[in-house]
Amino acid sequence: MLSVRSLMAAAAVTAFMLPAPSFAGGTVEVLHWWTSGGEAKAVGTLKEAFEKKGGTWIDSPIAGGGGDAAMTALRARVMAGNPPAAVQLKGPGIQEWADQGSLNDVEDVAKAENWDSVLPPSLASIMKYKDKYVAAPVNIHRVDWMWVNPTVLAKVGAEVPTTWEEFNAVADKLKAAGITPLAHGGQPWQDATVFETIVLSQGADFYRKALIDLDQDALSGETMVKVFDQLRKLRGYVDPGFSGRDWNLATAMVMNGEAAFQIMGDWAKGEFLAAGKVPGKDFLCAPTPGNGYIFNADSFAFFKVSGQDRIEGQKVLASLIMSPEFQETFNLAKGSIPARTDVSLDKFDSCALKSHEDLTASVKNDAFVPSMAHEMAVPRTVRGEFLDVVTNFFNSDMSSADAAKALADAVKRAQ
Ligand code: BGC
Repeated sequence: MLSVRSLMAAAAVTAFMLPAPSFAGGTVEVLHWWTSGGEAKAVGTLKEAFEKKGGTWIDSPIAGGGGDAAMTALRARVMAGNPPAAVQLKGPGIQEWADQGSLNDVEDVAKAENWDSVLPPSLASIMKYKDKYVAAPVNIHRVDWMWVNPTVLAKVGAEVPTTWEEFNAVADKLKAAGITPLAHGGQPWQDATVFETIVLSQGADFYRKALIDLDQDALSGETMVKVFDQLRKLRGYVDPGFSGRDWNLATAMVMNGEAAFQIMGDWAKGEFLAAGKVPGKDFLCAPTPGNGYIFNADSFAFFKVSGQDRIEGQKVLASLIMSPEFQETFNLAKGSIPARTDVSLDKFDSCALKSHEDLTASVKNDAFVPSMAHEMAVPRTVRGEFLDVVTNFFNSDMSSADAAKALADAVKRAQ
């Protein structure tokens, strides 16, 4: 079989001599949910690089932060027997689709380029099915971040909080001054994003017991009741228009000084950067209270397509995604850090450096945990139960004790 490099070299020669035929770098239809300003800019770098290799990119964006709408569209496409060639997919979802026989592997590319030697083993294992790569990671996003408008904080003479008690005190001050403390979009995945950062503040062991091991005592116990108490507090800090708001519009509220904080993964930084804002000056990033790191790695999985042109497209895309140049360019726009461990962070900003530093420390301290809300930790069915209970709680006056019990019961039913 021809290696990818020789295919690409052949394609380059052909491209030089003739008007580029559309199969020079293959064709890929790419299904993703990167439609906000920062996201579109980031995925644009992938499209551009792929087209530079002579490939034909068919864009299939499905709007909807967190990817729930994209996953529904994906199911419909697979059921219809017409899957897209590359799909933004992650965590256990990759294994689920592979188990159903829906994925092509790109093991020949991965072997030739020695992916095993440049990816953290925990991430590599998520990308593999039966020891073969069926997906390629583009980044590592950190979920447990607060995005802060320093000018708004200064209005009430407050510092960036480091505990929930401090956060509540600052938020009370802001509220008293007529300022919305927390920009939030009331959508289940955003509610769950905030929820899991509070779970992490109770320690990585508790996070693992509750959100990964699905331990009934952790889900229904006192600590979980405390978590819901803090979530109830946060509910009191959002503005009346929060319901259904897209996450990037909540980011814009912090950017424009309409709110002081947003709790969101570092794709929010992509929004600030796309708007020309400077970290440390126009906005601040600070981890949510606690010691740990919730990770969320985006990746593309390769679905079973046929035909030389499309299979070639998958291989060229896989190789491109894992190239150090692309990992740098893409992540500078996306707000995340490279998935490859050997990419220099020289061009990255202080938030990315902090992410990397805390990642390294959390791995050492055993406090590096996968995101439940962003589909890195548990199957979709179980995640769905978490989202339902957390959202019901956020939008009702359910007590924390009832919420913890409802969570334990729902998770038990889903298993
Ligand atoms: C994805 C990010 C994306 C965010 C908002 C997350 O689940 O991992 O890449 O920017 O959702 O759409």
